[in-house]
Amino acid sequence: MAGSREQWNSKAGFILAAVGSAVGLGNMWRFSYLTAEGGGAAFVMLYIAFTLAVGLPVLLAELTLGRGSGKSPIQALAHFANAASASRAWSVLGAIFVAAGFLILAYYGVIAGWTLRYAGEAVLGFGPDTGALFGRISEGATAFVFHMVFMGLTISIVIGGVGAGIERVSLIAMPALFVLVIGIAGYAATLDGSGAGYAYYLNADLGNALTVPIFVDAAGQAFFSLSLGMGAMLTYASYLSRDDDLPAESAIIATADFGVAFLAGLMVFPLIFAFGLQDDVSGSTVGALFVALPKAFASMGDAGRVVGLLFFLALLVGALTSAISLLEVVVSAAMDGLGWGRVPAALVAGVSITALGAGAAWSTEVLGVMDSVANNLFLVGGGLGLAVFVGWVMPDPIGEARAGGQQGWLGLWLFLLRFAVPVALIFVLWNSVPSTWAQLVALFAG
Ligand code: PFF
Repeated sequence: MAGSREQWNSKAGFILAAVGSAVGLGNMWRFSYLTAEGGGAAFVMLYIAFTLAVGLPVLLAELTLGRGSGKSPIQALAHFANAASASRAWSVLGAIFVAAGFLILAYYGVIAGWTLRYAGEAVLGFGPDTGALFGRISEGATAFVFHMVFMGLTISIVIGGVGAGIERVSLIAMPALFVLVIGIAGYAATLDGSGAGYAYYLNADLGNALTVPIFVDAAGQAFFSLSLGMGAMLTYASYLSRDDDLPAESAIIATADFGVAFLAGLMVFPLIFAFGLQDDVSGSTVGALFVALPKAFASMGDAGRVVGLLFFLALLVGALTSAISLLEVVVSAAMDGLGWGRVPAALVAGVSITALGAGAAWSTEVLGVMDSVANNLFLVGGGLGLAVFVGWVMPDPIGEARAGGQQGWLGLWLFLLRFAVPVALIFVLWNSVPSTWAQLVALFAG
């Protein structure tokens, strides 16, 4: 469809929207349970290393492709494949991104729905049996209804468009989220017994961490948390003008994303240890946070109602600004590729994704498998495709990344994209594909 493309109204608007995409359930729900599973600080260190060596280069690659083409993922890849006289088949990678957006938002919306429900439960006060509560809320018709409500909210913001919908919401939601997270982490520090939580979170047990499965988890988490490997950052950057300094913006986005994950650990672990609930998270699963934390809130009396409400609100705000970026990938692809208007694109994509979420709402086991497939196959595989495309196929990536900014460390960037990132990601895929496949087979067989 011809016509002028939507644009962000301000640089701050773009940065907060991109940080909003990055900061979400991944930073709080996923980061905490993987850290618990991976032995605390050692996992965090691997995750930081992965974010710097692999995540950051791929983030800049996505921003470069998006801004350089001014197009949604499928067209962006076709545009630069064309410029390089390379095969048009590269645009298939963009189609895989759109499929990943579908898959991730379908289960992400279900977890966000749990969060919505928990915000309400927090005000009423959690009872002692939070395991039973999680069992009731996380699966079945209730889970689906809350998923629908959350998806309705997401769709309505995306219908508002880039400036008036996504940017406006991000400008309010992200500062609010920062205040909430800092406030709750500060409160957790005042609790008796919080020290054991910090010790667990911040003392590295390296022997425990340097195993292949934890390495694979840290890689998947770095991609998921930065919203990489499926064109979300690419799509957001396609609404930028030429004079943005992309390397500097990548660094800001990655720092803010890591900052919130780190703060989430400073909320969750002191709260859990102060109330002696560490055993609830050590056998960690997707539900750990939703079982252990409400117990802590229940033990805190009235203060627990307030802190519990604020905690789940923070989670919800993070989930919402991430969900809109997931939906925007699919919507922008339909607008660019099929010439649809924004409203029908958002409605058709949003309603189909909501329907696909029925699988994840049906059972947490299905949800867990969707999460593994999305991260271990789609995002890591998508990141590999992006690194190879920008590193080896796209003409003059450094020139494209630089427009408006300084050369800085762009030589190192290209080196990482060409060599280090593909080697690391092939290693991760090599080790994760068989187990993810086995999970899928087990799901369908059982
Ligand atoms: N980065 C989001 C989070 O950490 O919760 C999840 C996410 C959003 C993943 C957008 C991928 C994506 F494209």
